[in-house]
Amino acid sequence: AGPGLLQGLRVIVTAGPTYEDLDPVRYLGNRSSGKMGFAVAASAARAGAEGVLVAGPVQLPTPPGVQRVDVRSAVQMRQAVMEALPADVYIGAAAVADYTPRSFSPSKIKKTGAGQTLTVELVRTPDILSEVASREDAGLKLVVGFAAETDDVAGYARQKLAAKRLDLIVANRVGVPGSGFESDDNAMTAYWNGGEREFPPGPKVRLADDLVALIAERMRA
Ligand code: C5P
Repeated sequence: AGPGLLQGLRVIVTAGPTYEDLDPVRYLGNRSSGKMGFAVAASAARAGAEGVLVAGPVQLPTPPGVQRVDVRSAVQMRQAVMEALPADVYIGAAAVADYTPRSFSPSKIKKTGAGQTLTVELVRTPDILSEVASREDAGLKLVVGFAAETDDVAGYARQKLAAKRLDLIVANRVGVPGSGFESDDNAMTAYWNGGEREFPPGPKVRLADDLVALIAERMRA
């Protein structure tokens, strides 16, 4: 992204997975690498933004000029985001767990006998993006969500744009080689009310610059 495109704006980016602990040695997680979110935070900083990166458990270096807050669970991520507000732009690139174990077992859960099953009860996590988008006091001029889908990418993305009251949603297909989770490359399409833009597939670092340029454009719209 060009230098100065987001000059003087405060931008919060979430990135990576969340881990939902079951007991002291086990957790529920997902395959998010955090690469896309980290690339977006780096790009926003290069574009002149004051960047805050709320990162789930990932092994990635902190981009230059970015203030990083490390968290583990969805509940912790929500807390860190609320503390980082107000901001001008919110970009929810994290793959936040949708469910967390109803209770954490402080001692390691014992194996059941062979042939027996173990049932874990899960409860919904807070939807950070929806909450942020509906907060009047957040100061936000633009709220951006991500949608990782395996099929009907456009349909689900447009649904999410409306349901979560977003200004922009970035959709990518997961489960195909060369795109989505764990990959250095991605293929994405952005949707907003009354428009869409398909980005040429390529490295996440370049796509992050394209996205920051689109965000700057949408803020002027
Ligand atoms: O509904 P779905 O999880 O597919 O929406 C994805 C978008 O919502 C992403 O931007 C993700 O960061 C955000 N999200 C969130 N909190 C959740 C679940 C998803 O902020 N609990």
